[in-house]
Amino acid sequence: MSLRFEWRGAFANDEVNELHAAAFATRVFREDEWNWVELTAQQSLGWVVARDDRRLVGFVNVIWDGLAHAWIQDTMVDPRDHRRGIGTQLVAEAVSATRQAGCEWLHVDFDDDLRSFYSDACGFRPTNAGLIALQEWFQAPTNRLSEESHPRAPRS
Ligand SMILES: CC(C)(COP(=O)(O)OP(=O)(O)OC[C@H]1O[C@@H](n2cnc3c(N)ncnc32)[C@H](O)[C@@H]1OP(=O)(O)O)[C@@H](O)C(=O)NCCC(=O)NCCS
Repeated sequence: MSLRFEWRGAFANDEVNELHAAAFATRVFREDEWNWVELTAQQSLGWVVARDDRRLVGFVNVIWDGLAHAWIQDTMVDPRDHRRGIGTQLVAEAVSATRQAGCEWLHVDFDDDLRSFYSDACGFRPTNAGLIALQEWFQAPTNRLSEESHPRAPRS
């Protein structure tokens, strides 16, 4: 086993869609529905890829405003590899690269159950933030992108 973390590392859509499905308990999105390679190339400051040998075990996307603010999005670790420090290291790499890019602030939002991960393990301090659920399926107390609840998740 050799863990490797790479800022803006190469990845394929299929492997990120599979990792996303495993981490967030959704179905596996197809490349024509969710093209991470194109989206990150066009819109992200960067992303971190974690591999154990060749297997993709973790991924985090860093989006930004082009200058001062960046946001952690879609932190995901393969459930088989939870609690190996991979999530913490993904975020640490993102913090380092974002700082080096000259950004002033790195944001994240999360549910209460992940406070010990983002606050204690990764070092985010609490701040005021706001959130509006834009689609009615997010009002229900169901999982975010669950197959049953999310219209963007038709069965393939
Ligand atoms: C959240 C997630 C990225 C953490 O990845 P990980 O590699 O398991 O995290 P680490 O091993 O670096 O954890 C470091 C510490 O954070 C805390 N932590 C990690 N996962 C946690 C969880 N699910 N709940 C509460 N605390 C957690 C623990 O204190 C842990 O230390 P410990 O293992 O010594 O107890 C991973 O559980 C995941 O992919 N979850 C599903 C997707 C998700 O919810 N992503 C976040 C969206 S905001």
